[in-house]
Amino acid sequence: MNKMPGEIYHLDTVDSTNDYIKRNIAVIPDGSVVWADEQTKGKGRLGREWKGPKGNLYASFVYQNPPGDVALYPLLSGLAVFRTIAALTGIQGKIKWPNDVLIGEKKTCGILCESIISSSQIYIICGIGINVNVGADAFSREALPYATSLGIETGKTYDLEKVLEELSRQMEQIRTEWGQHGFATLKQQYEKQLISLGKTVQVIYQRETLVGTCLGIAENGNLRCQLEDGREILVNSGEASVRGIYGYAL
Ligand code: BTN
Repeated sequence: MNKMPGEIYHLDTVDSTNDYIKRNIAVIPDGSVVWADEQTKGKGRLGREWKGPKGNLYASFVYQNPPGDVALYPLLSGLAVFRTIAALTGIQGKIKWPNDVLIGEKKTCGILCESIISSSQIYIICGIGINVNVGADAFSREALPYATSLGIETGKTYDLEKVLEELSRQMEQIRTEWGQHGFATLKQQYEKQLISLGKTVQVIYQRETLVGTCLGIAENGNLRCQLEDGREILVNSGEASVRGIYGYAL
């Protein structure tokens, strides 16, 4: 078992665990995690908001001058959540590129990784939100038909501290595997869980939608897609989102 290198900070309420780390970057040690019972201004990818009611896990890990390509942290964090869910529930989920973790075709986790530079140091903040104990009514109130939680899927209630413990273990385990063996095996594992692999997807840029077949991921974490005219494109997660042709995932 890998021990976490940093500290664990637990907050009752915070605007966003990612923003909390940014404000306190000078005093939070490398490898720490900040988690909160609720978020009042949670942030999602591509400028979206992330709702923060009590009952779910909101956690951000911070790594100072991380080894390896920081562009891979979003994908590897997704793999860590996939493994966490499998370990806690026995459910083999799926990953929707870059890092939504799904049960069935529904989203149970979102990840926002942000990198910042402060006092000549590079930091990556991996912000992870896992829907753990909220019920289906919360998602229907928020009109989130593609969301689910571990509780909805299993009928159980989970201790958030235990979920965090498993997630921290998996984050460390993956960083160790990456350091020892490089990205190749982790890439294979990631692609094995990729829900759209070999399927037709829509790639949505600001005003443009392209349709293609998902071929897997590139060495830098971009999504490889083959368009109908045969051209291969690399999709960057900071610029585009990907959906199935029928709905959110497929
Ligand atoms: C997404 O799917 O759009 C990403 C959602 C990321 C949410 C997590 S919750 C913990 C951390 N703090 C935030 O403000 N966002 C991330």
